[in-house]
Order: sequence, then C-alpha cells, then structure tokens
Amino acid sequence: MLSRLPGRNQYSPRIPTFRDAFSLLAGRPLRWVPQLLGFVFVLWYFGPIIRPHTQEDFMYELPPPIQHPHLPPLYKPPTASADDWKLRSHQVREAFIHSYKGYRDHAFPADELAPMSGKIHNNFNGWGVTIYDALDTMWIMGLTEYFEEAVKVIAEANYTTKPKQYVPFFETIIRYLGGLLSAYALSQNPILLQQADKMGEMLLPAFNTDSGLPAFAISTRTNATHGGWTGNTLWAEALSNQLEYKYLAHLTGKPGYFEKAERCMQLMYEANVTDGIFPTQWNTKTGAPSNNKFSVGAFADSAHEYLLKQWLMTSRSETKIKDLYLNASKSIIEHLLYVTPNREMLYVTDADMLKPPSQKTDKSTESSSTTDSGSTSTLSGIPSGTFEHLSCFLPGLLALGAQTLDLPASEKEMHLWAAEGLAYSCWLTYADMKTGLGPDVMSMKLFPKNEDGLWLPRVEKWKEQGRSGRPPGLREPGVATEKTGRDYTIYKRSYLLRPEALESFYIMWRTTGNPVWRERGWTIFQAIQKYAKTEIGYASLVDVDKSSTKAPVKDEMPSYFLAETLKYLYLLFTDEEIIPLDKWVFNTEAHPIPIFEWTETEKKLFKIT
Ligand SMILES: *[C@@H]1O[C@H](CO)[C@@H](O)[C@H](O)[C@H]1NC(C)=O
Ligand SMILES: *[C@@H]1O[C@H](CO)[C@@H](O)[C@H](O)[C@H]1NC(C)=O
Ligand SMILES: *[C@@H]1O[C@H](CO)[C@@H](O)[C@H](O)[C@H]1NC(C)=O
Ligand SMILES: *[C@@H]1O[C@H](CO)[C@@H](O)[C@H](O)[C@H]1NC(C)=O
Repeated sequence: MLSRLPGRNQYSPRIPTFRDAFSLLAGRPLRWVPQLLGFVFVLWYFGPIIRPHTQEDFMYELPPPIQHPHLPPLYKPPTASADDWKLRSHQVREAFIHSYKGYRDHAFPADELAPMSGKIHNNFNGWGVTIYDALDTMWIMGLTEYFEEAVKVIAEANYTTKPKQYVPFFETIIRYLGGLLSAYALSQNPILLQQADKMGEMLLPAFNTDSGLPAFAISTRTNATHGGWTGNTLWAEALSNQLEYKYLAHLTGKPGYFEKAERCMQLMYEANVTDGIFPTQWNTKTGAPSNNKFSVGAFADSAHEYLLKQWLMTSRSETKIKDLYLNASKSIIEHLLYVTPNREMLYVTDADMLKPPSQKTDKSTESSSTTDSGSTSTLSGIPSGTFEHLSCFLPGLLALGAQTLDLPASEKEMHLWAAEGLAYSCWLTYADMKTGLGPDVMSMKLFPKNEDGLWLPRVEKWKEQGRSGRPPGLREPGVATEKTGRDYTIYKRSYLLRPEALESFYIMWRTTGNPVWRERGWTIFQAIQKYAKTEIGYASLVDVDKSSTKAPVKDEMPSYFLAETLKYLYLLFTDEEIIPLDKWVFNTEAHPIPIFEWTETEKKLFKIT
C-alpha cells in the first residue's frame, strides 16, 4: 500500500519490509515473545472471519479503520541519516528504560517516582499511575517483559477508593482509562479491556450531577462526588472523556458510556455560544457557561483536541462535532493569536471576551473585522499576554485539522500557517533558554494598543499588499540576542518534563514532512539528557534559564513523561509511522485509540444520529 504513495522513495532508500517494521517494534532480545503474541493476535483477529459471528464477537470486534489521504513526509532529512535516526530513537528507548526501571526498582507500584530521593509520590489515586500511563509506550517500544509484568499487576487492581478518598475524574480518565484502552487496542489483551470496563463503570457516576457535566472528583466507594475549587466544571473536564467513553461503548456495547459522554456534547450544542467561543468554566448545576474567558490553556486545552479527534475517531460520522471544532478554531485564529512587537513571535494567549462598546443594535450596520471567509465577529477580546507551554499542543492540533478537514484553500492556509508559526515560537522558548528547555509560562510583550498585535489583520494586510516574503509570524527571527531581546518575560521558570511542544513537532513532522521538526526535537532531547537525567530517572527542572552547568531539579517525574514526552520523541525519530495518523487518534495523554466506524446496531442502540 505505502509503496504506491507518490514520493515515498524520495526519503526512504527502500521500502521497509514487514520484518524491518517488526524488528523495530519488537526489539532484538526476546523477539519470539512478540511474534508469539502477534500470532495469537492474528488468530484472534481473523478468527471471526472464519467462524460465524456470535453476540460476543460483536462486543469485541474492531472494524478496520477507514482510509483518508495522508501525506507521506516530503523531504529527505538534510543532516541526519536514516542510521542516525535509528540510533536516536534507540536512545529514547534507553531513556524510557532508565525511567521505568528507576520507577520499578524504587517506587513500584506507587503512583510516581521521586527521581532524586528514590521516594514515592501517591498523587493520582495511589493506583500506580505510572504503570498505566507507560503501558502503551512499552508496547510501542517492544518492551514486552515490562508490559506483561504490568498487566499482571493491573489484573489484580480494584479501583475502590479508600473511605473519604476522592479521585479526580479528568486525570483518572485521561491517564488510567486512556492508558488501559490504548494498551488494549495495541495488544488485544482481554484483561486490559476487562479492567477498563470495570474502571469505566466505577467512574461513570461522576456524571450524576444536575446538568450531566462531570463533577471534579468521585468516591468509587460511595459514588459521592464533589466539585473542584471553582465549584464549576472546567471546559477541559467536560470534554476530555468522550474519546475514552465512546471507544469503551464501542468495545463493550454498553449504551451508558456513550450517553453520559454525549450528554456533555449535547450541552455544548445547546449553549449557543457565539462563534464557537466556549468559555473556560461551566456551571455544574445548570450546564450553562459561567464566565467569558476564552483560552486554549490549562482550563480548556484538551477540549479543543477532543472536538476534532472525536470526529476523527468515529470515522468522521459525527459531523456536528466537527462544526464545533471549525467554529472554535476559527475564533482561536481570530481572537487569541498575537505577535510580539520586536521579534514578531506568533503566540496564543487567552482573552476576556466582550461585546465591543461601539456595537450597534442594528445587525446590518456591523462591520467589525471581516475575516477571510466573510464572517463578521461580534465579540472582541482583551488578551492577557500569557503564553503557556500547555498551549503548545495547539500547533499540532491545527496541523492535524488542516490535513483532515475539507477546508477552503484560504482557510487551510491559515490553519497551516498558524500551526507553523506557533510551533516555531514554542521552539524559540526552548532555544532562548540557557538550558535549552522551555519555561512553563511566558508573559509576552504586548503592543501599546493591544489590537495592534492581533495576527489575523496582519496576515490580511500582507495578503492585500501582494504576499511578498513569508507571512507575518512565520519569519523565523532566530534565537534571541542582546539586541532583539526576547519580547517576553518568564512567568513560570520550571520545565516539568512536559510533552506539548514535542507533540506538536511530531504532528508537524508527519503532516508537513519537514525534517527540521525532528532536528529540533533531537536538540530538546539532548537538553533533557543533559539537565533532567538523574541516577534513577528524570526530574523536572526548577529554573530553565540558569547558567550553571547543572540546573537545580525538582524531585518529581510525572507519569506523562513516560506516556507522552518519551513516546512522541520515539515516534518522532522512528522512520516508520508506527501509529499512523489515519488509523489512530491520540488522546490528550498521548494514548493512541483506533479510528473505528459505528455499526448500524450501535447507531440504533446508542441513538446516534
Ligand atoms: C475492593 O477491595 C475492597 C477492600 O480492599 C473491598 O471492600 C471491595 O469489595 C472490593 N471491590 C471490588 C469491586 O472487588
Ligand atoms: C455506584 O454506581 C454504580 C453504577 O455505576 C452501582 O452499580 C453501584 O451499586 C453504586 N454504588 C453505591 C455504593 O451506590
Ligand atoms: C439554543 O438554541 C436552541 C434552538 O434555537 C434553543 O432550543 C435553546 O434553548 C437555546 N439554548 C440556550 C441556552 O439559549
Ligand atoms: C458555527 O457558527 C455559526 C456562525 O456563528 C453558527 O451559525 C453555527 O450554528 C455554529 N455551528 C455550531 C455547530 O455551533
């Protein structure tokens, strides 16, 4: 199949054989173990074709994923050779082994390893979050011994909370349930599905609020819930369970999973928000928006992801969700993208959305900021100027959208440019630092008149003036010098081993084929090796801009470092696309979930329209 794609041979000296791909997946030692598992999988998977279907087969069958146009990488890497990349991906695998071994030797089966002291952190339920989060990465890297050992521990788990203990719904879904489902999809080990189903059932009462939006936390012992510190549901909490619960509904045939997750989507349709500007907080009682902040940062981030990815996961059948993504992403581009005054760095911030004071009541006289596609904005934003590392997932999402949505050419161009400019700025925040690792939050320099910094009008102007040179925000100013200054100050100086920039580099590499993203990822990985590696693991940095050779570190190794950061690095350096973007979607914790189609039976059962 792949060999028929145009241009494939330009970057790959020969078509990789099944054996090549397999040895990449399986690694050298114990090659027979994955082969045996593979054989069992083949028997299991193709069994139903030979035998007639039973009800049970229906429950666990995955239809083959649909195809869609997927661009292969376009260029040959300019610097590193295929062998270099193989070596680099191998080094990431070694880094994973170093972290997991440290966890296993010192902290297993607690939640996380304290990588300096060798102590433990039980900060995510005490159910061993690192095991669940790392599971699919082990599978992808061919670490079958760790995988099988982990499955044994998981098989014994009982997700009943201790008396008075509450577990956070959002984190438990994306890390634990997402990890189980993804590992199940990759390995087809039925224990993982069984445990996912158990956990899914036990967390489901979190939706038993007046509105149906999930509560912040739940006791699986009593089914009691409690709200978070805001008393509201954050938008990210409301919309970061649909990939997991809908896939679980597909695997188990249980309508409850679909209905509870879909109820949150229904509230989004009914809220009638202007232009897809979904605010960051929602009233858990009424299900209505409860502030006017528009963001892609901490309170909102993954909700944007789950709009596009839900549509992709169910083979583009739920088109209403796609429309929400189209509206929301258009508003992000219009209201949240700014450039800085000196270096013209493109960044995404958050804003308080207000009706402009000049707005007339007569709609026909409105003429504010007409955009390319001819729509008229009715709101304007006051930007905070904050640029979060967490927001660095956005370039990857926009690139994925540009590739998969049927956008008009002028809009597609905007999404791609935004993706490229933002990913570059995320890169700059790393490259500008003394350690080469990016700070957690930046305060960007604003123009004296805020609206002068808005990106969209600048691009419109550049287009009108004949499109000479690169578009604004994509001119790649290079690393900060004394003369340019940075155009931002560091607001939070830590690097928490976060994945978002690398995640976007990976998607940029796969969707554009530009090897520069791989090289940037490699530079970041080297900085991680230099500054974050400890005797027994990897540690978050306290200050990314310290000049001393060894920056001070925090005694923390978050589970997402194994789930996301190292997985995206490994995939970035691996030539073969192990998790093809046209067959899988990554949940917000980098757990790949397969793209599937709802069967007619499921559509009836779940009332999917
Ligand atoms: C889980 O374990 C607790 C005690 O450790 C027990 O009370 C409870 O019944 C168990 N729940 C399930 C679902 O096995
Ligand atoms: C909690 O809810 C589940 C349904 O999700 C139910 O089976 C279980 O009995 C409930 N437990 C308690 C203690 O109410
Ligand atoms: C949104 O619009 C629909 C249809 O016009 C209406 O039924 C619904 O009540 C509106 N929702 C809100 C919250 O205003
Ligand atoms: C998208 O925005 C347009 C214009 O504001 C609106 O008419 C449409 O209903 C929105 N779509 C959804 C799914 O909210």
